[in-house]
Amino acid sequence: MKTTISVIKADVGSIAGHAKTHVALKNKCDEVLAKAKESELLVDYHITSCGDDIDLIMTHRNGEENEEVHELAWNAFLEATQVAKSLKLYGAGQDLLSDTFSGNIKGMGPGCAEMEFKERPSDPVIIFCCDKTEPGAFNMPLFKMFADPFNTAGLVIDPSLHGGYDFEIFDVIEHKKVTMSCPDEMYDALALLGSTGRYVIKHISRRSDNEIAASVSTERLNLMAGQYIGKDDPVAVVRAQSGFPAAGEVVEPFAFPHLVSGWMRGSHNGPLMPVAQRNANPVRFDGPPRVIALGFQINNSELVGPLDMFDDPAFDRSRDLASEVAEYMRRHGPFEPHRLPADEMEYTSLPGVLKMLEDRMEDMD
Ligand code: 13P
Ligand code: 13P
Ligand code: MG
Ligand code: MG
Ligand code: MG
Repeated sequence: MKTTISVIKADVGSIAGHAKTHVALKNKCDEVLAKAKESELLVDYHITSCGDDIDLIMTHRNGEENEEVHELAWNAFLEATQVAKSLKLYGAGQDLLSDTFSGNIKGMGPGCAEMEFKERPSDPVIIFCCDKTEPGAFNMPLFKMFADPFNTAGLVIDPSLHGGYDFEIFDVIEHKKVTMSCPDEMYDALALLGSTGRYVIKHISRRSDNEIAASVSTERLNLMAGQYIGKDDPVAVVRAQSGFPAAGEVVEPFAFPHLVSGWMRGSHNGPLMPVAQRNANPVRFDGPPRVIALGFQINNSELVGPLDMFDDPAFDRSRDLASEVAEYMRRHGPFEPHRLPADEMEYTSLPGVLKMLEDRMEDMD
């Protein structure tokens, strides 16, 4: 029997501005998911949040892209939106791009990362949830986890990892995909993955037996909506230990708070700060961008845990560095490279301003 983990997330309203979702919204989601557990659609679930995004971590036996599970998440977000409206929360229903569910939550606004696998005798899984950034934020850390021996010693010293991993990479602009094997095609993979706004890792699997290792929500809200409605604030599911990187190797890349795009109005580069869930409230300039990591053991499809993995003083210096980088980047104000480059500003609110300036522009000769 196989277990499916479905992590489906959406921002359906927050306090004050875009900083934090409201507990009443999480309670409403809890009500909806509890019924689904009772009726055995779900085996188990855990609800968390990162900033203004609610993350529904669900386990079940129905496989990926299951219509009932997707509809359940959609209904939970829809009901939470009603609560958000009644409280006049900010951005009530922000990420729900449609009025009616159409069979699959993909393309409707919420982000979705899923994987189905046969449980090992012991199966540690780490769920990462971000706020104020986009799916490409996971490119560097996932590459380090599964392809960089300076991060993951196991790639060199553990025979079960030594064969390497396949990276399924999506081109979110041209809607194409390609699978590249590491270490053999590492340079080719990096040629794509460095363009974080366009090429994003969707899945990673072990080369020796094609076993799923990682899955990322790759939905780009602004591309779907055709206008700026906030950032995607992605999630990722990563398996650890016994044939996969150790749990410590899975969280290690986040010790470097790399620059990601997002932050204020989804229009700025800033450091991705790893934080405990209780500190996942991006306030300064609506940021800096945050990531949380919840570790579980999967036991016959039940979620044992979580351990709040960045709630560790060993990440304090990473947070200090992120604060220092945030200070440095902020001093650029509206200038690149703090503000995103022009091509990425197409997916923000800037085109509206440029349109107003159109009449002022004259030919030079
Ligand atoms: P323990 O001896 O604490 O189980 O550690 C095993 C290990 O490999 C840690 O990476
Ligand atoms: P969210 O995508 O988290 O709602 O962020 C929107 C925004 O514009 C923050 O400044
Ligand atoms: Mg928001
Ligand atoms: Mg958000
Ligand atoms: Mg968002």
